[in-house]
Amino acid sequence: MTISPRLTELLEATDSVCVLTGSGISAESGIATFRGPEGLWAKFKPQELANFDAFMRNPELVWEWYTYRKTVMSQAQPNAAHHALVEMETLITDFTLVTQNVDNLHARAGAKRVLELHGNLERSYCIECGLFAADPILAAKGEAPRCTQCGGLLRPDVIWFGELLPQMVLQEAFRAAERCDLFLCVGTSGLVYPAAGIPLVAREQGSYVVEVNTEPTELSRRCSETLLGKAGEILPLLTNILRDAQGGRQHS
Ligand code: OAD
Repeated sequence: MTISPRLTELLEATDSVCVLTGSGISAESGIATFRGPEGLWAKFKPQELANFDAFMRNPELVWEWYTYRKTVMSQAQPNAAHHALVEMETLITDFTLVTQNVDNLHARAGAKRVLELHGNLERSYCIECGLFAADPILAAKGEAPRCTQCGGLLRPDVIWFGELLPQMVLQEAFRAAERCDLFLCVGTSGLVYPAAGIPLVAREQGSYVVEVNTEPTELSRRCSETLLGKAGEILPLLTNILRDAQGGRQHS
């Protein structure tokens, strides 16, 4: 993979970068993406698992699915792409990492600040009193876990279909997209809004938008360039250029 002269030049000069990640960044950690023949939504029905009404109808089933996903995620390790972004955060003064992922792998890799648009499977909260629970476990006989404070049902702290994203977090993501010089869109199909609108705002505001994906997506024709390949191989190349440029700046 060769990095274009335009992108190399930008990486060498920029001090303001915003990154949006999707499930593709965790594919090399062994976590399934959502769409495509091997994706989660090809095997499971979102309407039965990822919406509030379905949860109220059958909380045990929903919890069984999320407990399975939590187990897969806790056994997975952050990959080279997550680590490259952690280093990027240390090299860029105005760096914003926005993720649609709920797998917590950015934080586990060492990222200091992550804007989580769709929540985090490591957390749950009570639907009655709102108390957060760090690590609820399924109650005996496959019952859904309950709040230690009021006995209400706990739900995973993830955004389900039809639910609003955390508005402050979303606004912060849009603000970072508006002011950055370089926007990286990594491992996302770009089909789910409002997240998919963030790179579009960056482009409208004149930022150079680079997509990193194993295949072209809905976003490709609206990006400045697409780097086709695995995030775990491409992001370390970008971080290398940033690191070398910073070394050069310190010595000049
Ligand atoms: P998708 O499954 O829609 O897209 C994953 C993208 O990652 C695809 O475009 C793949 O080509 C790409 N990909 C796969 N492996 C890759 C690799 N090693 N390196 C780079 N790219 C790779 O997942 P998302 O875009 O994350 O929402 O889906 C967005 C939202 O839809 C999710 O957050 C979830 C889902 O419904 C909620 O749960 C609210």
